Amino acid sequence: MYKVLVLDNLAQEGVEILKSSGIFEVDVRSTMPPEELKEVIKDYDAVVIRSATKLKKDVLEHADRLKVIGRAGIGLDNVDIDYATKKGIVVMNTPQENALAAAEHTIAMMMAAARNIPQATMSMKEGKWEKKKFLGVQLYGKTLGVIGLGNIGTIVADRAKGLKMNVIAYDPYISREKASKMGVELVSLEELFKRADVITVHTPLTKETQGLVDEKAFSFMKDGVIVVNCARGGIVDEDALLSALESGKVRAAALDVFSKEPPGLTPLIQHPNVVCTPHLGASTKEAQKAVAVAIANQIIEYFKKGVAKNAVNMPRIPAEVYETLLPYVKLGEKIGSFLAQISDFQIEEVVVEYQGDIINYETTPVTTAVLKGIMGAYVAGVNYVNASIVARERGIKVSETKSTEEGDFYSLITVKVRGGGEENSISGTLFGKKEQRLVRINDMIIEVVPQGDMIFFLNYDRPGVIGRIGTALAEEGINIGSMFFGREKPGGIAISIVQIDSKPSKELLEKLSNLPNIIKAKYVSL
Ligand code: NAD
Ligand code: MLT
Repeated sequence: MYKVLVLDNLAQEGVEILKSSGIFEVDVRSTMPPEELKEVIKDYDAVVIRSATKLKKDVLEHADRLKVIGRAGIGLDNVDIDYATKKGIVVMNTPQENALAAAEHTIAMMMAAARNIPQATMSMKEGKWEKKKFLGVQLYGKTLGVIGLGNIGTIVADRAKGLKMNVIAYDPYISREKASKMGVELVSLEELFKRADVITVHTPLTKETQGLVDEKAFSFMKDGVIVVNCARGGIVDEDALLSALESGKVRAAALDVFSKEPPGLTPLIQHPNVVCTPHLGASTKEAQKAVAVAIANQIIEYFKKGVAKNAVNMPRIPAEVYETLLPYVKLGEKIGSFLAQISDFQIEEVVVEYQGDIINYETTPVTTAVLKGIMGAYVAGVNYVNASIVARERGIKVSETKSTEEGDFYSLITVKVRGGGEENSISGTLFGKKEQRLVRINDMIIEVVPQGDMIFFLNYDRPGVIGRIGTALAEEGINIGSMFFGREKPGGIAISIVQIDSKPSKELLEKLSNLPNIIKAKYVSL
């Protein structure tokens, strides 16, 4: 049984799914002080968090057994992803499930700020009737500036169009075409600041977006603008926002997130034109259930099938091409592993060449799998998460090429490993949708089913070689399952691969290497 620690009040539906999976012993705690977490995290294979628990290096360095961090929600600023990656820990989140809730909250906050709803509510609860004091502004026909047109920004833009607002957006990572299909005009950041009546931010908090809306940004804005932040505290500079509220430049601000949470009773929170909520963007029953169910299923899938859906630190295979790409990922790993096991030199360079239909797909997961196969032959604890880092840390140069030349196979993956002036290469393909075949080794045509225990021979193509191999194996009681052959030319260098039913001893390999006309014999286990 694996052990999973569930923190931060994950919705019960997610806890139940984990419990009923039959593979987890589940410990549930609402919060855990960091010192206690450091103590206990070493016992767990997986941990599930929301936003409260911080999994930074000081905690993760104790997490020697941890394989997965599951974030029920989107934001991962509470996790040290780089450090987790180095430790080979998969970090996954649920990027879609609470987007609708956050977008609806954004619209609610924008309307509350435009019409002073919270302030008017408070006033009435004090027994007052202050009709004149709470004069609002109309949103119809106004311009909404959306910064960050991702999952949430897109829904906000769509809903705002329903309110008959003009929507403009700034997002350097999306295309003008995508924006215009949504009926949104993509503009520069400065233009957005200058034209918008309401500005709402929906980017992640990164070095680039920290303080994106700062004093200079406010200086560009229209007088009486409304500013909404339901993304992450710190994207809008809080001191600059307070000054802009005090000067009247900003008419109202609506804030769900803060650079320090909880922020306490700061002058910004106390400002009469600030509408605020305690990070409630994702707090709907539906969203909390959805993130909990999604993360529980993702974690189970990872432990049962090795599939890391929504992993942020390993190449993600998009769901729509998953079925197509996964067999290539598995093939790539086998090619890498085979090459590492037959190569006597230290690998300094890996070249992965793609040809045929596969060039139409994102091939990073396959290249990562090749590296996992190669590095896994030398280094313990290599997985899809850290394979590229492990290769890079060892100074291995990795490159990927895609050839549009028509070849003999529907798709072909060729991996070349080089080092000390030597090179080995293997090409592999799929017969049908899943049948793996190695079809070329060091330019010799062959057809090998890459599985199980094998002995790889480099030999001279002379009579008697196969007979002697068979006799030597039989003498040790090793049964041959199948054999595959390839050669440069009759009488030249040849390759013989013998699939065997049990592992050969070192002595046997030595004996096989010394047989006449054998250049080398290598045990390969896939
Ligand atoms: P997303 O990744 O789908 O979208 C983010 C968008 O920001 C992307 O399109 C990206 O291209 C863009 N972006 C990145 N850097 C940018 C920059 N420098 N300038 C402009 N655009 C930039 O993320 P999402 O799911 O839409 O989430 C958006 C934010 O909302 C995140 O910060 C997330 O943590 C936060 N969030 C808050 C709550 C809440 O409870 N308040 C709930 C969910 C998400
Ligand atoms: C998120 O990142 O998903 C939101 O901020 C909501 C949460 O805190 O879980």
